[in-house]
Amino acid sequence: MSSPVIVLVGPMGVGKSTVGQLLADRLGVGYRDTDDDIVAGEGRSIADIFVDDGEPAFRAIEKRAVRTALGEHDGVLALGGGAVLDADTRALLAGQRVVYLSMDVEEAVRRTGLNTARPLLAVNPRKQWRELMEARRHLYEEVATAVVPTDGRTPEEVTEAALDALELKEA
Ligand code: S3P
Repeated sequence: MSSPVIVLVGPMGVGKSTVGQLLADRLGVGYRDTDDDIVAGEGRSIADIFVDDGEPAFRAIEKRAVRTALGEHDGVLALGGGAVLDADTRALLAGQRVVYLSMDVEEAVRRTGLNTARPLLAVNPRKQWRELMEARRHLYEEVATAVVPTDGRTPEEVTEAALDALELKEA
């Protein structure tokens, strides 16, 4: 059993994949993303899973994917934006080094817009974002070791801030 050097959580479009890759490069470790694991394992897109089987089925698949990745991966691991909704997943994250990449609602709407690849944002993104953030903010905060705001920052700046927050920078 190994565990990731960093787990990234936060909403869709906050830059988990981009920052995760940069963090992995800086630390000389691998990068893994549970959304990619799900797509590879299921052989279909996230949107197709939502449309064909519904969100509860997706969450069950996601829960298994997160558990597997947490047990296997020793690099940087990014979780899908809704993974923290699951209480067992939150319990698994206790004791891990978890960075919550945060952004405010207006930034979220601007970055993601209407997004058919992200089924939760397919209609009325501003309203959906507000509801999503209200429902999830405290869950991200609950699992986080460090909170790194991304508003107005480049991915490189966010990466530096995350390394600083975790004190993972060489002196
Ligand atoms: C979701 C986030 C997505 C993906 C799915 C549901 C969510 O992942 O897992 O569309 O509920 O916030 P990203 O955060 O990687 O976009």
